[in-house]
Amino acid sequence: MHHALTRALAAGMLALAAGGASAADKIKVGFMLPYSGTYAALGAAIENGFKLYVAEQGGKLGGREIEYFKVDDESNPAKASENANRLIKRDQVDVLIGTVHSGVAMALAKAAKGSDTTLIVTNAGADAITGPMCGPGIFRTSFSNWQPGYAMGPVAAAKGHKTAVTITWKYAAGEEQIGGFREGFEKAGGKVVKELTLPFPNVEFQSLLTEIAALKPDMVFAFFAGGGAVKFVQDYHASGLQKSIPLYGTGFLTDGTLPAQGEAAQGLLTTLHYADGLDTPRDNAFRADYRKAYNMQPDVYAVQGYDAAQLMQVGLQAVQGDIANKTAFRDAMRGATIDSPRGKFTLSPSGNPVQDLYLRQVAGQENKVVDVAVRQLADPARGCKL
Ligand code: PHB
Repeated sequence: MHHALTRALAAGMLALAAGGASAADKIKVGFMLPYSGTYAALGAAIENGFKLYVAEQGGKLGGREIEYFKVDDESNPAKASENANRLIKRDQVDVLIGTVHSGVAMALAKAAKGSDTTLIVTNAGADAITGPMCGPGIFRTSFSNWQPGYAMGPVAAAKGHKTAVTITWKYAAGEEQIGGFREGFEKAGGKVVKELTLPFPNVEFQSLLTEIAALKPDMVFAFFAGGGAVKFVQDYHASGLQKSIPLYGTGFLTDGTLPAQGEAAQGLLTTLHYADGLDTPRDNAFRADYRKAYNMQPDVYAVQGYDAAQLMQVGLQAVQGDIANKTAFRDAMRGATIDSPRGKFTLSPSGNPVQDLYLRQVAGQENKVVDVAVRQLADPARGCKL
């Protein structure tokens, strides 16, 4: 046998015997996402987006092939630690990708930190993840709940609205998106007069809609997403309230949901870090590729998954695929500028995107960009010591 080859094989065997990985090994990526329940479509879009970017790179990141592991987290916080440990301990993944639900994501972040596994959060906005729970191995390619809520505040006040009632599911995402809205709206002179909630993922909205009709606020601000958002927008439309009390929300209310919402969603104004009709070369290319691969329109969730793979690529290229070089891998990711379909973004020291928040309006099956509501908005990262 050729000497060089013998030496390479011996070195590879030594590395393996020492528990180290060699360049021939695949990088293990663990998807912890909802594949069932009200957020099932969101999990699928995130996985699709991630895999699209990897496919565009010839199936490799940083020159290494990628091997996938999957767990359906069911958006169930009670099962979250156990599910995270399936990927961390059983599958021994190098990087965790997930999830959608804020409550599940906080347990995932805790498990990731406890085992020093790198985590890229691809949706869940829990403020704590890039706040008190922030860490060198924790990244987010989506948003903090505060960001899209806050962005609607000045927009609603500029429309002349003085009073608002909010409505959402009672868990971190709802409470924090409402909290962001309240902060932005009250800073601009408005007042939130009542906060209505129901348990996740319930969709019995009737008694709350009756309460809104009695309260007669200038506007309603809502956070719902996935299957629940479809039902809420339909019920709000059917109630006839829209004419006297216009509905606003974070963009999750109408993203990935328009084919099912149809007429009920037309004209709705929302704020989000992605929109249809951006018409940039980067976004147009992404959308064409996504449609070709999956035969459907991408949404914000697909973008967040795609950008998680882009972020990993930056880290892996910096270490020539040697993911065991954790510090350099993570430092490169934290310093990255991501050329996202949404527009370029950087990460704050806490690991959360600093990004434009768009005002969008539903027209047909699109959340058409109307304006930039807040340019380059950074989460305040309250409680993060990085
Ligand atoms: C969340 O739980 O953080 C969450 C879920 C669905 C969304 C947005 C945020 O669309």
